[in-house]
Amino acid sequence: MRRPLIAGNWKMHFTVPEGLEYALQLRRDLEPYSALVDVVIMPPAVMLWEIANALRGCAIEVGAQNAGWEDQGPFTGEISPKMLAGWCHYLLIGHSERRQLFNETDEELNRKLHAGLRHRLKVILAVGETLEEYDAGRTAEVITRQLNAALYGVELRQATDLSIAYEPVWAIGTGKAATPDYANETMGLIRGLLQSPFGALASQIRILYGGSVTPANARSLLEQPEIDGGLVGGASLKPGEFTRIVQATAEVLQSPRV
Ligand code: PGA
Repeated sequence: MRRPLIAGNWKMHFTVPEGLEYALQLRRDLEPYSALVDVVIMPPAVMLWEIANALRGCAIEVGAQNAGWEDQGPFTGEISPKMLAGWCHYLLIGHSERRQLFNETDEELNRKLHAGLRHRLKVILAVGETLEEYDAGRTAEVITRQLNAALYGVELRQATDLSIAYEPVWAIGTGKAATPDYANETMGLIRGLLQSPFGALASQIRILYGGSVTPANARSLLEQPEIDGGLVGGASLKPGEFTRIVQATAEVLQSPRV
């Protein structure tokens, strides 16, 4: 069975002192679950180093919400995977906010993904359909395109550093999570697509669900066989809620799956 991963995407929230204090609180609160559940928090880049140091020696890992693809150079405002290498564990690529608000293309995301893997970051690739695409019944087509484009040229040996986050765009920040069945079905499709580049290794890649995950729905989502964890936005900003999601994940592991 794949070990669950709960990822907290803080987006553009908290000042540096607030973020640091919160990370230290999570360090204390999440300790009881560390043997069962992997946890990564993804603070804004400006506080990432400070928080990584504050969490040193504990099981919580840190991730960047975004990075460019070059190692260095005249790219004002950008951070590079090379700068993150060696101390930052994860890199999120292709969040729908990056795709939609910052116009990131499949081709750019493929470059970012390669750069992240080259520097041995554990890359979480986010994919998902918009409401319009969902309504038009185009989910499978959109996910197939996003996955194939982003994973183009990735080698078999790199599969172990990869996770996928399925985030239907219509579920992000709306309070309307996908139903567990729908999420599970789409994530099954994703796992099938991963077989063509990665063969049997596809069964080891973690696929997370994201989009309005809360303590109330975490359990029913995580009980699904294809759901290996969550990418949590809004609820990751509230220490009590995030901890309850991690707790629910641990509880699902300890009870038989549906
Ligand atoms: P949400 O965000 O949990 O607030 O819906 C999820 C995400 O954007 O990753």
